[in-house]
Amino acid sequence: MATSQDYKLGDHTFPRGWFMVAESAKVTDKPQGVRFFGQDFALYRGKDSGRVILLDAYCPHMGTHLARNTTSYVAQDGAVEGDSIRCPYHAWRFGADGKCNQIPYSSGPIPPAAKVRSWPVVESMGAVFVWHDAEGGEPEWDAPSLPEWDDPAWTQWTFDDLGKIDVHPQEIVDNITDAAHFGPVHGSKTKFFENEFRGHLAIQRMGGGHRTLVAEGGPMLVTEAVYHGPSILITRMSGLYDSYIFIAHTPVDDGSTYVWHALLVRTHDGRPATADDHAAARQYQDMALAAFAQDFEVWKHKRPCFQGMFVQGDGAFRLQRIWYKQFYNARARKHEFLRQVEGVHVPRGMEPAPDDMRQASEAALPMAANG
Ligand code: FES
Ligand SMILES: [Fe+2]
Repeated sequence: MATSQDYKLGDHTFPRGWFMVAESAKVTDKPQGVRFFGQDFALYRGKDSGRVILLDAYCPHMGTHLARNTTSYVAQDGAVEGDSIRCPYHAWRFGADGKCNQIPYSSGPIPPAAKVRSWPVVESMGAVFVWHDAEGGEPEWDAPSLPEWDDPAWTQWTFDDLGKIDVHPQEIVDNITDAAHFGPVHGSKTKFFENEFRGHLAIQRMGGGHRTLVAEGGPMLVTEAVYHGPSILITRMSGLYDSYIFIAHTPVDDGSTYVWHALLVRTHDGRPATADDHAAARQYQDMALAAFAQDFEVWKHKRPCFQGMFVQGDGAFRLQRIWYKQFYNARARKHEFLRQVEGVHVPRGMEPAPDDMRQASEAALPMAANG
């Protein structure tokens, strides 16, 4: 597998940022083992608080995976007690903070090192996000959210779980600057296209046709795609309906990536959604998924691109790859990268986004991170 080092991304193997690790609805008090960032985790929902809890998977006692067990009586009886989880091997119990809070058969003191790491998680838009930072720092920006998620005029999404692919995330992020693939892959005639890099955000504004999403001669498809950090892409799309495409890709191991897709659709005017609204939203999501599958198929079978043979009209790949490096290096160094890339970039031969679109977009975007 192509690694972060192969792409010369920086000092860290995995980037800093918020990452989707699960669908909220699938996290219950039945613990599950998940793997991201080359590490194994135990994921469950606390019974007391209802909070999602993500712990390092391996018990400090003898290294048992806290969540990958179904036959031990601890697991059969329910390993989650309150917000704590019991190890299936000798039943040591760990709290939501990761500290061992009971060793059932030992009257001696609990060793202070009897703990696992507890990770900062947030639930938003039906997803569970974790803050990952090789330097162990506090979140640099808020986990993404959309006010429309709670607006009754919008039909909430259910996720398309696309599973793991052996593609380095860089290949997926490249898509944000890929002006020339719209015609060949999606059948779009691009009318305008630009990228903007601003702090932890990478933005693409695009207008054109789209054979997969809008019929020939249909309305122009206008999209504004925003990377909120290295891995969560939210695209506002005006076409048949107003909608947001959500694509999250989370590193599993160095060179492999887990992908989710979803669509939030404004199908009606705020009256309670009917079965027809849900069916229309699902149908539109399937169309968006078909468009995404067109990109996905290319990624799945391509060889890694460590250095592209970029030509005029290709889009700001080189700048995007510099922007992306801020997440693979010490936070203190991010301005070295941002200095080189911040601003609006229009590929040669392409029109920029209309002024009113850019102004509205800039007013609505979250502020760049501090520090
Ligand atoms: S290995 Fe976990 S309690 Fe012994
Ligand atoms: Fe695409």
